[in-house]
This record gives sequence, C-alpha cells and structure tokens, in this order.
Amino acid sequence: MNTTRRFPSGFLWGAATAAYQIEGAWAEDGKGDSIWDRFVRKPGVIVDGTTGDVACDHYHRYAEDVELMAQMGLGAYRFSIAWPRIFPQGGGKLNQKGLDFYKRLVDALHKRGIKPVATLYHWDLPQALEDHGGWVNRDTALRFAEYAYALFQELGDQVPIWSTLNEPFIQAFYGYGNGENAPGRRNPWAILPVVHHLLLGHGLAVEAFRAVRPTNAQIGIVMLIWPSHPATSLPPDVAAARRVDGAMHRIFLDPLFRGHYPKDLMFRLGVRMMRAPVLPGDMAIISRPLDYVGVNTYTRLLHRADWRDPLLAVRKIEPQAPTTAMGWEIYPDCIVESLQKVREYTDLPLYITENGAAFEDTLDPDGQINDTERIAYLRSHIAAAHRAIELGIDLRGYFAWTLLDNFEWAKGKSKRFGLIYTDYATQRRIPKQSAAFFREVIANNGL
Ligand code: FCB
Repeated sequence: MNTTRRFPSGFLWGAATAAYQIEGAWAEDGKGDSIWDRFVRKPGVIVDGTTGDVACDHYHRYAEDVELMAQMGLGAYRFSIAWPRIFPQGGGKLNQKGLDFYKRLVDALHKRGIKPVATLYHWDLPQALEDHGGWVNRDTALRFAEYAYALFQELGDQVPIWSTLNEPFIQAFYGYGNGENAPGRRNPWAILPVVHHLLLGHGLAVEAFRAVRPTNAQIGIVMLIWPSHPATSLPPDVAAARRVDGAMHRIFLDPLFRGHYPKDLMFRLGVRMMRAPVLPGDMAIISRPLDYVGVNTYTRLLHRADWRDPLLAVRKIEPQAPTTAMGWEIYPDCIVESLQKVREYTDLPLYITENGAAFEDTLDPDGQINDTERIAYLRSHIAAAHRAIELGIDLRGYFAWTLLDNFEWAKGKSKRFGLIYTDYATQRRIPKQSAAFFREVIANNGL
C-alpha cells in the first residue's frame, strides 16, 4: 500500500469493546447482577429477544481473542470492567475471582505488547445499587468512587490509560429518560439528577486516581459527540440543533471544563425536571483536571424545531444520504467536528475511543466476509482523523468499534459492528476483510 496519509509516530491504533457486550459468564465466579442482566429479561425490550448471558463468551475465550488482536497488530485494546464482577452488591467485600479475570486479561495483553485501556463504567451498574435508586441516588456516586479506588490499587500500575465513564449521555437519557436502555426507567425527571451523579462519580474517581497515583497512568472520560446540525437554516431549527448539542454535549462538557451547567439548557430542562441536587463543592470535584478526553463518534444528527416534543422541542430529520445498518448517516467529518467540539473546551490530548459501522455482513461460500462497505467507512473516517491532525488537533489514537460482533444493547445480536465475525452458534471467530484492512493501516501507520 502506498501510504500518503501517515500518522504521527506513536499514534495508538486499537479496537474497543464493552464488558456486557462480549463477556457472557453473566452469573459466574461470584458476579452479581447488573442492570443489564435484569433489563434483558423484560419481554420486548431487546429487538431479537437475545441477551448478553453468553454474548461472545469472551470471559472464557479472552486468550484466543487477544491472539486475534495481536494478529491484527493492535497497539491498544479498550475494554470495560464489569462493576458487579468486582463488587457483586455494588460495594462491600471485593470479589477476588472477578478481579482475577481482568488481571489475566491485562497480563495476556502485556505479553502481546498491547496496551490495556480500561473503562470503569460502560453502563452495567450493579442491580443492588439500582434497587436503592441507581444513579438518581447520590450515594451511587460515592460507591462508584470506592469501586474505582479499589481498581486503581489493584490494577493501576498495569493499565496505562483509564477512563471513568463511557457516554454518560446514553446512560442518563436512554437508561433513565426514555427507558430504551437499562435500567429501563421512563422518567425524564430523573435525567438531571442522573447526569449530576454520574459527573460527581466521575470527579470522585479522578480524585481517587490522584490519591493512588498509579505510575505513568492517565485518566480521562469518554464522551459521545455527534455533531448536531439544523436541518434547515431557519433560526428556530438552528436553535433546535443547539438544544440537542446542549443535551448531548454541553451538559457534560461545561461542568467538566468550566465548572458549571449550561444556563440555556438548565432553564429549559429545569422547569420540567427535578433540579439536580448540586451541593457546595460538587462542581469543583466534577471539574478536576484530566489527562485526556476520549471521543466516541459515528455520525451527525439533523433536527428541526417541533414544539410537540415535551423535552427539547425538537424533531429528528432522517438523512438524505447513505446510511449504515443502524440508519446512521455516513458522515466522515463527524470525526473532525466532534474533536473540534471538545477543543472548544480544552487542549488536552484526544483519542477517538470509538468509531465504526454496522452493515449486513454475509458469509461468502468460501467462508469469507467481504465487508467492503465497512472498509470504505473506516477508510473515510480514518482519513478524517488525519485531517483533524493536520488542522492542529492533538489526536493521539483511534479505536475501531468494535473488535468482534457482539451484543448491541437493545438491538441484541441483530447488528454487527465487528472487524471479526462472531458465529454465535459455535463461537467461531472469523476475521472480516476489514480486519485485514485495519491490519494494513496499522502496519503502515496510515492510509
Ligand atoms: C456506542 C456504545 C457502544 C456501542 C456503539 C455502537 O454508543 O458506547 O457500546 O453500542 O455505540
């Protein structure tokens, strides 16, 4: 391959996963139930009726999976730790067997020269804490900090890059606001307290990290940033897109980097929702300095104003452009624009911690998955990442979502995002053509 877009030396190429989406072993080695274990058992909430009980069985097959990562040449692997494996009831006594799984995983990664990048919370709250109010309850933030502290002590020196939360927006708005995700609560009143307690838990975890001071390790947060565009240039639509930007991005970025919630949004949401119980000192905790920011981005969003929507008075407009199997517009500049969004707040190093696409993959008669659409998606988005660097953005790495087809939350096993195909019946893994493409990109450090 003739490389014309070379990335800076040391640029980190990785793939990302999340515990509930791949591990399986949902009730093994003393693990407690998470809100997802409970949620998937409600009728009708997962489109294909599947669960993550077994998922990719990664809990037992991690060694094989690390080999596949090594074959792809990955420099880093982003995974999440299941809180209920470590503290089955959310707090109290640490479950050694659960912790040992992550120790084995991290060891295997180091043996293959792959940097472990660990997320503390990718949406799988211990059900025991949900039974006491979950993220609506301030106490959950304190339990989260204790859990984080324990992991920094146990694994801090082995994991060079940590993140506190993955996409707090989805947890707050989908988990508690519209109920599409676990814990499945449909209570818009809960959104603000949940946002605040997630951020407080994040800030307390950062404090715990600084107290433990693992050597040479960094801590950050992973944000979902989907550029929010107005569907027309009419002023009400421009204002609508700004409200979406507020609810998805500014509601987190303002407190994290400026120490206050965005006033315009609080005015809108505040009259409809219980005001978040912000206690003196909270905002200082939430805005503790970080080492980097992770950005998950897949597409952009188009909205118009619509006063019938009680929450934000907006209506989503379907894109008039090619989409992925999720119905998400293919819009490579989402990479540049989402990084620029974070840059409005901070000059910290940035990572693309998730980017990728679901398509209808099929096995060829010769057993190959020739996923040309995914390759085109990756190529155009990696090119955009290169453009962002040329524009002066301090982008340090790119993580493809995802290593292997897995349990895609409410979409169950119906959406395949993997570089590697998972045959769920046999748990056979088959690297797709996109895995070979990504291996080339990594080997050349560019396109
Ligand atoms: C992100 C999630 C990840 C996966 C991708 C498709 O929002 O962080 O777990 O579901 O979307």
